[in-house]
Amino acid sequence: MLTRISVMVLRVCALLALILGILFWIGVVPVTEAWQGIHMLLGILVVICLWVLAFTIGFARNGGNLGLAIGAFLLGLIVLIYGVSQQNLFAMAPSLIWLLKTIHLLLGLGAVGMGEAIAGRQRRLAQTTSQ
Ligand code: HEM
Repeated sequence: MLTRISVMVLRVCALLALILGILFWIGVVPVTEAWQGIHMLLGILVVICLWVLAFTIGFARNGGNLGLAIGAFLLGLIVLIYGVSQQNLFAMAPSLIWLLKTIHLLLGLGAVGMGEAIAGRQRRLAQTTSQ
């Protein structure tokens, strides 16, 4: 149940963060404090959901995966730290702005992929234990 809710919230928030991020990127939505705050809130919710999923797979009674849990926790931390500090990175290396933006996008998508991988693994575990 917790896995299902977490992965659904993760999907919705990631999709909204992605849409808003792309709108920032193409200049349709201005990067104001308010819009940025909404995007960051969505991103933080993605990370929290990923951490909840990491917890569920790390401590699954029917055979968890501590490696996957640690990987998901670390990826969430990187997404968070990179997201918060990316504007400082833009200022430090303005010529690398596109690379820095692409890394941010890939980290966000990586968090979604990792969340989906954990949810898929949980589904398979639930199927094998119910057989
Ligand atoms: C699923 C997670 C996320 C996705 C898919 C995502 C995607 C994007 C995209 C495509 C952009 C526009 C390009 C860019 O400026 O990099 C963007 C901008 C931004 N993101 Fe995210 N993001 C995510 C999570 C986060 C998080 C967790 C934070 C911080 C807590 C964050 C902070 C920012 C900021 C501050 C900008 C505006 C940068 C600027 O152009 O000045 N993002 N995001």
